[in-house]
Amino acid sequence: MKSHEITPFIGTEFTDLTYDDLRDDDVFAQLLQALHTRDLVVVRSLDLTPSQQIDLARRIGTPVPFVLQDWRHPEHEEILVSSNETRDDRPVGIARVGNFWHQDSSFVRSPAQYTMLHGVNVPQNTGHTLFAGASDVYDRVPADWRRRIDGRTGRHSLNKQQRIGPEHVGLSIAEMKALVALEHPAVTHPLVQTDPFTGRRYLYAAREYMDGVDGFDANDTEAFFDLVDALVQDPEHVYTHRWTPRDLLIWKTATTYHVATEVAPGTDRTVHRISIEAA
Ligand SMILES: [Fe+2]
Repeated sequence: MKSHEITPFIGTEFTDLTYDDLRDDDVFAQLLQALHTRDLVVVRSLDLTPSQQIDLARRIGTPVPFVLQDWRHPEHEEILVSSNETRDDRPVGIARVGNFWHQDSSFVRSPAQYTMLHGVNVPQNTGHTLFAGASDVYDRVPADWRRRIDGRTGRHSLNKQQRIGPEHVGLSIAEMKALVALEHPAVTHPLVQTDPFTGRRYLYAAREYMDGVDGFDANDTEAFFDLVDALVQDPEHVYTHRWTPRDLLIWKTATTYHVATEVAPGTDRTVHRISIEAA
């Protein structure tokens, strides 16, 4: 087994590691330590069955079935199938998730702490995943902005991500918005939080999952979102994960910003995702 830091600001990559190796407590402890201190762990080319992926997730915490029942793996409810592939003219999984910069599930009160993805069938030249570190982002917030956001809370919701689904057929836009608000009421989170593992402060805010900042008017809110976008998307501070077959990725949801990029038309892509609540 070999490992190295992917960038100065996020990620540790492991190579020459098998599922059997990971059954060793010391090896697994190294992986967990890297996850907690580096926010993102990449294990290259790891052969895993769905059961083995769930087993790994259980050693980190408690796998939680995804909210959308339609896209759960047929035999393993813990696994969400994210795919653009079809079988018998039916989609095998949910297509296009997370195609904007975000921190996973920040629109709920207590998001699961970890996300795990296994690249079951991934193209190598398209469909990359981009990552940035929320502590690294906070470190670059200018001093005057730090003073303005310290102690403030942000309002998170799915309001900007509404899609018309089958349950919305026949509803007006106003009724649809009311339904989404009922199912996913807005929640507030502090803009600046502290990572219990590293003691570092991190920014918890992303434009597409937020309605605004408490105490900010519309202009201040837009200026804040512009700042967040500029810091998160600074090319010097973004890691582009170019998938290779069977890569396993695990990240801390609070301290990791990420975005899925487009998959070239006609290219199949399937990943298996598990949300994990801390033990
Ligand atoms: Fe995500």
